[in-house]
Amino acid sequence: MTGRLQGKVAVVTGSARGLGAAIARRFGAEGASVVVNYSSSKSAANEVVDDVIKTGGDAIAVQAKMGDPAEIERLFAEANRTYGQIDVLVNNAGVYDFQPLENISIELFRKHMELNVYGYLLAVKEVVKYMPTGGSIVNMSSTVTIFGPENASVYTASKGAIDGLTRALSNELAPRGIRVNAVKPGVVDTEGVEAGDFLHSDFGTNIRSRTPMGRLGVPDDIPPAVVYLASDESSWTTGEFIILAGGHR
Ligand SMILES: NC(=O)c1ccc[n+]([C@@H]2O[C@H](COP(=O)([O-])OP(=O)(O)OC[C@H]3O[C@@H](n4cnc5c(N)ncnc54)[C@H](OP(=O)(O)O)[C@@H]3O)[C@@H](O)[C@H]2O)c1
Repeated sequence: MTGRLQGKVAVVTGSARGLGAAIARRFGAEGASVVVNYSSSKSAANEVVDDVIKTGGDAIAVQAKMGDPAEIERLFAEANRTYGQIDVLVNNAGVYDFQPLENISIELFRKHMELNVYGYLLAVKEVVKYMPTGGSIVNMSSTVTIFGPENASVYTASKGAIDGLTRALSNELAPRGIRVNAVKPGVVDTEGVEAGDFLHSDFGTNIRSRTPMGRLGVPDDIPPAVVYLASDESSWTTGEFIILAGGHR
């Protein structure tokens, strides 16, 4: 099925690589105009834009660091200047630096909270200036809040905060006809996960062996649920979470 996001304008944060890139490409194939946000991967972001255009959609790449209030403000103003409104926000940009308790520092804490939590809140604060009734916000949470991996307390706390802000903002924005939901992927083989060497360690082996579907995720496992939450098909769904993890808890 295509065209489920026809006529909608979507901002996908951190969509030069990984899950964000897979979501941006699928949004384009479903007819959305897509704002591909990146922080440093300019050429990768331009490739995603080209892919969206090749499938008949429209897209632009906009650089902005999603932990920086002035850059977040500029991203949404530019998206609105280009497309006239913003119907969908996918808060996806995120950092995961797994560290044991003894390595926790204020720098590690700030790194996660500034991007994964404050950045998500500020993005919502800015996007609602341009979002009409019927708008949809999808936050990228994680199953770490359910299975609680060791050596990942700061990252897990940041995703727990996302679950809380998803529920609170869903209530706050419902009177304006704006929905706020989240997806909770399990471990998905992305560039970031590869770089962190999660998959070839005990962590990866352990998760794989405890996943009923017998494999870890690939980026294309995630976009269909995000398309559903972004589209009008889910117009009576808000404050909810979709778990995509091959049955792993
Ligand atoms: N992969 C998994 O197993 C998994 C599971 C559950 C949840 N998640 C969540 O899904 C999201 C994406 O994960 P991923 O695995 O796709 O990550 P990834 O491969 O590391 O890609 C991260 C993306 O975020 C962007 N980014 C990083 N810092 C940014 C910043 N300050 N401002 C704007 N963009 C920034 C990067 O852009 P640049 O390259 O331009 O910096 C990149 O495009 C994260 O929120 C993560 O916590 C991932």
